[in-house]
Amino acid sequence: MPGMGEHRETDFVGCVVRDSRHGSRVTAWPSDPKGISQVFLLPPPMKALMLVGGFGTRLRPITYSVPKQLVPLAGKPMLYHVLDLLPNDVEEVVLATGYKADMIDAFVRAHPPRLPVRTVSEAVPLGTGGGMKNAGGAMSDPFFLLNSDVIARVDLAEMARRHVAHGGVGTMGLYEVEDPRPYGVAALDADERILTFVEKPELADAPSRWINAGFAVWNREVLDAIPPAQAMSFEREVLPGLLDRRVYGFRITGYFDDAGSPERLLRSQRLLFDDGRGGKGALPSGTFGKGPVALMAGACANGASFGPYVTVGPGAVVDAGAHVENSILMEGVHVEKDASVRDSVLGPKVRVRSGHSLVGQVLGEGVEA
Ligand code: GTP
Repeated sequence: MPGMGEHRETDFVGCVVRDSRHGSRVTAWPSDPKGISQVFLLPPPMKALMLVGGFGTRLRPITYSVPKQLVPLAGKPMLYHVLDLLPNDVEEVVLATGYKADMIDAFVRAHPPRLPVRTVSEAVPLGTGGGMKNAGGAMSDPFFLLNSDVIARVDLAEMARRHVAHGGVGTMGLYEVEDPRPYGVAALDADERILTFVEKPELADAPSRWINAGFAVWNREVLDAIPPAQAMSFEREVLPGLLDRRVYGFRITGYFDDAGSPERLLRSQRLLFDDGRGGKGALPSGTFGKGPVALMAGACANGASFGPYVTVGPGAVVDAGAHVENSILMEGVHVEKDASVRDSVLGPKVRVRSGHSLVGQVLGEGVEA
């Protein structure tokens, strides 16, 4: 037996060579106890494309002034939670922006994320397919594709490994829901290959309850299937034509939500806090009640009381004697003395007057309630 720190010939820890035929890396792992090396196919270093150009209509009136991706939940803008899903060795993330592109660009410049990020914006909305084509020019092969409102716990590195192993043109993240009617639903065979995708089926017609979760690994060739400078939906107009080239499902067993509506935004915030992804999350000192509560830069809540699951955005103030629970207060919100806010999303600079009570409200920038 070799001692600690010694390596036998078969211990190829971290030995990575490029396989030029498959564009893959072949990694030899440490030998197992019987001395047999295991060999895994890994994808080459990958880039990611994130679709960030939608209007976020379900989050109006918040999204009239702030793009959905910059809404904070559990103490951090949605965009940064989605970026957190990507493995550390992703070389670059291209944000395909459109609606309020300048705000997103300025924000990521001012707050550089963990991974290198570049924005490519479209002058007119190109939809999910057109946006991919417009921004995907320098993508790796394969590459990650992500919607910008995916809140999940998922191992994307494992998804990429499976993608390389099955050799199809794409691998799509799937999540099982009770009611698949509002989504694209996958019919899978025994090998997890997707046979058909049915968009927004009636319950009786749904081939399964596994829905498109809004993230995938695609080979570069899928971009060739999209005509340039044309608005189109990837899911409706491009995906059906790719299934013949073999697309597989990757089932998520952790949590998942798309934070696209106010209810889902608040549910996503609870998922993130419960998963410990809401910063420290505890009750801030000088406040009362129950956490988790995330107080962002310059926020102040001395003497306020909280229920669980609250984000107090940058520079927001909750006066002494006020109460907030299960809510998101965006930048510069002011909740005055003895007011209360529950189950609500308050846009930038909203003011809740002294003694007023809000339940289940979604208020746009600058509203006085
Ligand atoms: P709703 O209007 O509330 O449905 O939200 P949304 O605008 O985000 O639309 P949806 O959830 O259907 O979009 C899925 C993903 O595609 C999101 O990450 C969007 O930002 C993105 N997206 C939607 N339309 C476009 C587009 O025209 N261009 C780009 N680049 N991305 C888009």
